[in-house]
Amino acid sequence: MKLLSPEWTALLYLVAAVCFILALKGLSSPKHARRGNLIGATGALIAIVTVFLSIHVENFLLIIAAIAVGTAIAVPIARKVQMTQMPQLVGGFNGVGGGAAALVAVLELGQHEDIGFRIAVVFTMLIGAISFSGSAITVLKLQELMTTRPVLFPGLRWIMSLAVLASIVSGVFVVISGNWVWAVALLVLGLIVGVLLVLPVGGADVPIVISLLNAFTGIAVAASGIVLGNVLLLVAGTLVGASGTILTMAMAKAMGRGVTGILFGAFKGGSTAGSTTVSDRPVRSSTPEDVAVQLGYAQNVVIVPGYGLAVAQGQHTIAELATTLEERGVHVVFGIHPVAGRMPGHMNVLLAEANVPYESLKELDEVNSEFKSTDVVLVVGANDVVNPAAKSTPGSPIYGMPILEVGDANQIVFLKRSMRPGFAGIENELLYDPKTELLFGDAKDSLGAVLAAVKAL
Ligand code: TAP
Repeated sequence: MKLLSPEWTALLYLVAAVCFILALKGLSSPKHARRGNLIGATGALIAIVTVFLSIHVENFLLIIAAIAVGTAIAVPIARKVQMTQMPQLVGGFNGVGGGAAALVAVLELGQHEDIGFRIAVVFTMLIGAISFSGSAITVLKLQELMTTRPVLFPGLRWIMSLAVLASIVSGVFVVISGNWVWAVALLVLGLIVGVLLVLPVGGADVPIVISLLNAFTGIAVAASGIVLGNVLLLVAGTLVGASGTILTMAMAKAMGRGVTGILFGAFKGGSTAGSTTVSDRPVRSSTPEDVAVQLGYAQNVVIVPGYGLAVAQGQHTIAELATTLEERGVHVVFGIHPVAGRMPGHMNVLLAEANVPYESLKELDEVNSEFKSTDVVLVVGANDVVNPAAKSTPGSPIYGMPILEVGDANQIVFLKRSMRPGFAGIENELLYDPKTELLFGDAKDSLGAVLAAVKAL
């Protein structure tokens, strides 16, 4: 039974769409992100309830059971996931969305014979299937269930071209005939294209591909809105597609790469892999007491946080260290690289959790002009984002990425556990620089020891 008139349905869809837009606005700053999330979830709830009340729902119990199963799987995963595993989680949820859009399109195929309708079906199936299988590969890569390096094999380029061509041919046949066999072929080919698209992407580029596939899912969902004649799906999908595209461009820019270079760079032989060999050249190791003296008697200190700080969960200790140094009259700022950590804004969120004031966080360009007058840079669990190979070594996986120029400072102290490289798997020459000292150990433990030593000065 339909409980809502079309006018009420349209009005409630409008409210949900406004919620989605406000959610995106909220998500644009860490301060309002939580509220943005809640507004978005409210919009989704309004949309779901409106659907139930505005159409004659068949298989009601089956739908409720599916929602219950999905919720039972997703909620514990989302609650338990570590912040550092967020890209995988986003990749997984996103892939499922693309897959759902593709399946809905397959089921709707027989509903109309209109050419425009069938084109929308084909588009949804193909993009949704690419997003599903591509996202699955990104999850496997980031979870290290398969190699994180680019996977290339002889003939890959040809197989890929053939799969794309065959998808187009199948799509045309689906549009002309509406035949299920061609539809299934299209779905399978879409899955193959998704896998082949992501296999050659490696190293630091995988999260950008997650964001790109997120945009693909948005577009697939928007097209499924046309298939189902649902305007809210069209609006929500377009918003996801647009925001995913903007994020992809922003991340690619922050890493100094073009999106086509990320997807097809490995075909040209450009390395996105890096080598994990570590040389046994000597380095200067330090003690918490030495580091405390350097920091405690400095005038200007820049702290550069990275992935290791998040792993060690040392954000509260680092915040206390900064406050303690400030109380001693030391000027302390945090240098934030846009791709430090494992997700966009990772360091901002981490430090916000420990109530580090926003004014203390300086972005790349701003802080780079300050390093020349910096006495000590404390690099905590960061590596790639300060690696000068990004400027000096063409062919390096991070070549072209703008870095934090910590080499300009008077003294550099690295807090890390070993000589192992960072995400890109390449050595950092700065570790061997005469100005550099290393304090080995888990970042939280080391920060705690340095903090105690500063307090004892
Ligand atoms: P990384 O280059 O990955 O370096 C992390 C450093 O932290 C390593 O040197 C590691 O050395 C150290 N570390 C790990 N656990 C630690 C712990 N418990 N205590 C102390 N140190 C620890 O990190 P980064 O400089 O933040 O650069 C980020 C990299 O990830 C870039 O290559 C970026 O492209 C990539 N990436 C970024 C994103 C986004 S969007 N932010 C997403 C995915 C990938 P030890 O093992 O020796 O301790």
